[in-house]
Amino acid sequence: MKNKEKSMESIVIKTPEDIAGMRIAGKLASEVLDYITPFVKVGVTTGELDRLCHEYMVNVQGTIPAPLNYCPPGYTPYPKAICTSVNDVICHGIPGDKVLKSGDSVNLDITVIKDGYHGDTSRMFLVGDASILSKRLNEVTYECMWLGISKIKPGAHLGDIGHVIQQYAEKAGYSVVREFCGHGIGKVFHELPQVMHYGKPGTMEKLEAGMIFTVEPMINAGRREIREMGDGWTIKTKDRSLSAQWEHTVLVTETGYEILTLSAGYPPIPDYITVPPEFAKK
Ligand code: MF3
Ligand code: CO
Ligand code: CO
Repeated sequence: MKNKEKSMESIVIKTPEDIAGMRIAGKLASEVLDYITPFVKVGVTTGELDRLCHEYMVNVQGTIPAPLNYCPPGYTPYPKAICTSVNDVICHGIPGDKVLKSGDSVNLDITVIKDGYHGDTSRMFLVGDASILSKRLNEVTYECMWLGISKIKPGAHLGDIGHVIQQYAEKAGYSVVREFCGHGIGKVFHELPQVMHYGKPGTMEKLEAGMIFTVEPMINAGRREIREMGDGWTIKTKDRSLSAQWEHTVLVTETGYEILTLSAGYPPIPDYITVPPEFAKK
């Protein structure tokens, strides 16, 4: 969500009951992406991907798509169940008639609600034959997300996460979007803290066990500036360069972090990341 549009309450420390609910919601969100993966092919429309995800959520999972009719202050109600952000769309792309063609890259961002708890995760999909640039931007963005997550533990600061993401992205020659950030999440879709994907080590909030927030870097191949489209939601790169994003919902544990948005179909995870035993490499 956009910077500075969340409530000014303080950061919620989740109860064991909340954490149990968030584990379930997180896994379900990831499973929507597992389900949709084989459909993300040349010729499909973003509207069809939305329709399939929506039906899976409601009819198979018994989850509610959080984006549908979501209406933060200053916005119009979001009209669809998922976000589909293609090529130079940074985030909040609205599914519609757009046909995916070979060489396109698309981020599918899924947020489900189960028993009142939100699970929020997104992945990139490269359609057909991807360009070298698109592959590299995707890989760098994926690494940015994991490097950020790897910093999470009690006593660390949010600035530690932002710093490592910014450093890695800029070293690759890319830029970090500033206007949108990760967010606290639980019974509320977007709550404090704001998780910037840039910054300085040791700055911003200190992390405590029981916090849950997303890490969702948006990285542009060109300049970082954004353009807001007339539909009230879609955000594109100003210079029309490619943009990529990956997202997880993460719990701060006593010893580090627990990624809540994993599932059986998740792509390979870097070796330096600790994952629950069920997701460990076989
Ligand atoms: N899922 C997005 C996020 O990661 C938010 C989408 S809001 C919507 O924060 F209304 F566009 F769906
Ligand atoms: Co999010
Ligand atoms: Co999201």
